[in-house]
Amino acid sequence: MLRVVVCVSGGGTNLQAIIDGIAQGAVCDTEIVRVVSNNPGAYALERAKQAGIEAVCVAPKDYENREQFEEALLGCVEEAAPDLIVLAGFMVKVPQKMVKQYENRIINIHPSLIPAFSGTGYYGLKVHEAVLARGVKVTGATVHFVNEGMDEGPIIMQKTVKVYDDDTPKTLQKRVMEEAEWVLLPWCINLIAEGQIKVENGRVTVTE
Ligand code: GRF
Repeated sequence: MLRVVVCVSGGGTNLQAIIDGIAQGAVCDTEIVRVVSNNPGAYALERAKQAGIEAVCVAPKDYENREQFEEALLGCVEEAAPDLIVLAGFMVKVPQKMVKQYENRIINIHPSLIPAFSGTGYYGLKVHEAVLARGVKVTGATVHFVNEGMDEGPIIMQKTVKVYDDDTPKTLQKRVMEEAEWVLLPWCINLIAEGQIKVENGRVTVTE
């Protein structure tokens, strides 16, 4: 059984997609053992509770400084003894210590085709605003392993989504979520649970 900790900050629709994927059997041999949020108001915490999953908040404002917050976050994750950490809309830069400790065991979903529209400053609606401003005709989502860089770790899987002339950042965000993010993330977790993902020299291969 793959023990997964999901880290969230907001609405938690990606978390919901994983919960549903497990319930429907699309994601095999996987258990979400804990959901961790930096934001006490995150609706994702509610979704976790409704699914009977332990939900814990580790908020920066409850700690004296960044270092203490990062220690608490790492402690909270470690306590759940995960095999895999999934960042599903987690708006915190993962502490370096955590990246090292869980090398190739932390994955993130990003709402663009990395390396386009990724890195510092590209989060939430800003990604889709930049996509529309540049006028690209295709965007999408990417699931990747987390390394010390920002959106720079080995890419596991990508899915494209069409951009339409009358899109607004919000309509595009919605389509990217529905067509790409909610499909890709459970799919990748299932592949990891089945031992089908290999990382070599910074590149991912999917074995049959
Ligand atoms: C998603 O667009 C995800 O790609 C990004 O943050 C958003 C989270 O949405 N990293 P939700 O909280 O899963 O609804």
